[in-house]
Amino acid sequence: MRRLLPVTDMTAHETGAGEVHGTAAGKATAATEATATRAGEAQVAAVGEAPAAGREWTLDELADAYAYPEGDAVWLRANMVSSLDGAGQHEGRSQPLSSETDMRIFGTLRGLADVIVVGAETVRLEGYRPARAREAFAARRAAAGQGPAPVIAVVTASLDLDFSLPLFTEPLVPTLILTGAAAPAERVRAAREAGAEVLVAGDGAGVDPARAVAVLAERGLRRQLTEGGPRLLGQFVAAEVLDELCLTISPTMTAGGAQRIAGGPSVVVPTRFSVASVLEQDGFLFTRYRRI
Ligand SMILES: NC(=O)c1ccc[n+]([C@@H]2O[C@H](COP(=O)([O-])OP(=O)(O)OC[C@H]3O[C@@H](n4cnc5c(N)ncnc54)[C@H](OP(=O)(O)O)[C@@H]3O)[C@@H](O)[C@H]2O)c1
Repeated sequence: MRRLLPVTDMTAHETGAGEVHGTAAGKATAATEATATRAGEAQVAAVGEAPAAGREWTLDELADAYAYPEGDAVWLRANMVSSLDGAGQHEGRSQPLSSETDMRIFGTLRGLADVIVVGAETVRLEGYRPARAREAFAARRAAAGQGPAPVIAVVTASLDLDFSLPLFTEPLVPTLILTGAAAPAERVRAAREAGAEVLVAGDGAGVDPARAVAVLAERGLRRQLTEGGPRLLGQFVAAEVLDELCLTISPTMTAGGAQRIAGGPSVVVPTRFSVASVLEQDGFLFTRYRRI
């Protein structure tokens, strides 16, 4: 993996024939240059170390690179993948646009989050399972006062979900349902009987996206990660509560009429973001933007 941005005097650069050299001594976490094995393990040659030998970019180093801002602020980041021509899905799934490194970053972002907020359609189409407790993140999570795995919060008005699935019956921490006050009572009952916790974050049938962020934050879930889908993400954008977008640009073209990564009504004035970092692996760009 190459760190394309931020470029610093410690940013490593290629000197040819696949050889990679750093320009200054420094900590691996501050300036790194990586290549990947076929197994998808990112390898990193730390600046100041023997770069030709390289070494694996650990999940810990990825976690450092993607750490939430320090402090107590509520922070909502999204993690999405898009094709070059803007598709956020192919044949109903995002997996065809993804890569092994993308999945490593996906897992890292999960490992850092208190809560994963996801739209019900993505749960239905992608067969969501409970988040796992991963040894690689255990110490970091404990030090940050986090439980062993992030909570999954499903946004739904209909609660038309299969409550017999492991997402509801087997999570480490009960899955949350975010819905409106007018949600169908029998579905709310079914969700609770299955072990889910139902939270109201809207006065009507649906969820007010800004209120969803606040309701989760009130429960101490301030490091928030949304994994979409596009209809949900579009609402977070329109409500101006999306702080950060971790966007994987997949070196693929799909044509067709796939959804973009954010849908719904367009905003009046395009929301501006600034680039925070760009990593590259196998032609995939792992970008990170913050709302200005
Ligand atoms: N490219 C990527 O990174 C990425 C990421 C995630 C998903 N995807 C793809 O996106 C597709 C699914 O996304 P999508 O946009 O169609 O659906 P989605 O955003 O995942 O879910 C839409 C559903 O969420 C619920 N919902 C959304 N806003 C709500 C609100 N304000 N209040 C209450 N409920 C609300 C509704 O559920 P109910 O119908 O239950 O009321 C709605 O039908 C899949 O193909 C998936 O593969 C791509």
